[in-house]
Amino acid sequence: MSTDNTEQSHQGATNVTYVPHQVSAEERKARMKQKGGVLWLTGLSASGKSTLAIELERQLHEAGHFAYVLDGDNLRHGLNSDLGFSAADREENIRRVGEVAALMAEIGLIVISAFISPYRSDREKARQAARGQFREVWVQASLETCESRDPKGLYKRARAGEITDFTGISAPYEEPEQADLIVRTDNMSVADSAKVLFDYALKHFSIPA
Ligand code: ADX
Repeated sequence: MSTDNTEQSHQGATNVTYVPHQVSAEERKARMKQKGGVLWLTGLSASGKSTLAIELERQLHEAGHFAYVLDGDNLRHGLNSDLGFSAADREENIRRVGEVAALMAEIGLIVISAFISPYRSDREKARQAARGQFREVWVQASLETCESRDPKGLYKRARAGEITDFTGISAPYEEPEQADLIVRTDNMSVADSAKVLFDYALKHFSIPA
């Protein structure tokens, strides 16, 4: 669903100037005691993105870090409630989330994003938004595995033609060509996958003690 508002916002604003901050990135890092960044989980529906994101958020919190999950299903209830699943709406979904994640990472938070984000170009824009603070993680499981899990019954409904534009069935998923990390959830347990992500997040987004 593309609304008039969406079209207007694409025109962009004129006569705006950037207001420089008086708190540096270094000062923020020192206050947060972590670098922060965006751990961008991409993959098919039911590949395990949300499960791993929530588990990782818990583990990072318990280890004394500031982390927050941005999840597709959750944000589609609020910030992105005006968007559906056409290619244009997914692009706008990921554009908004990419910008929000970048802002949060700039504060010094560890942002764990869990979105199908099926288009390479949209993921690339999210990477650009967060500049050097972005790591793409492909949460990989075959379509067969995801379809057999089908926790929300959506694959079944998509196969029956009750849901259109369903990723993997009637809409594309462009596999990452240069993911920073691949987590194969079809042959790894949740605990083992979360451990890989935890170590990776600490390596890239924390400050060594
Ligand atoms: S994205 O493609 O724009 O990145 P996002 O991650 O926000 O998608 O939302 C995906 C979630 O929306 C899925 O986990 C699923 O629960 C739900 N959903 C509903 N309709 C669809 C659809 N047509 N394609 C994919 N996911 C859908």
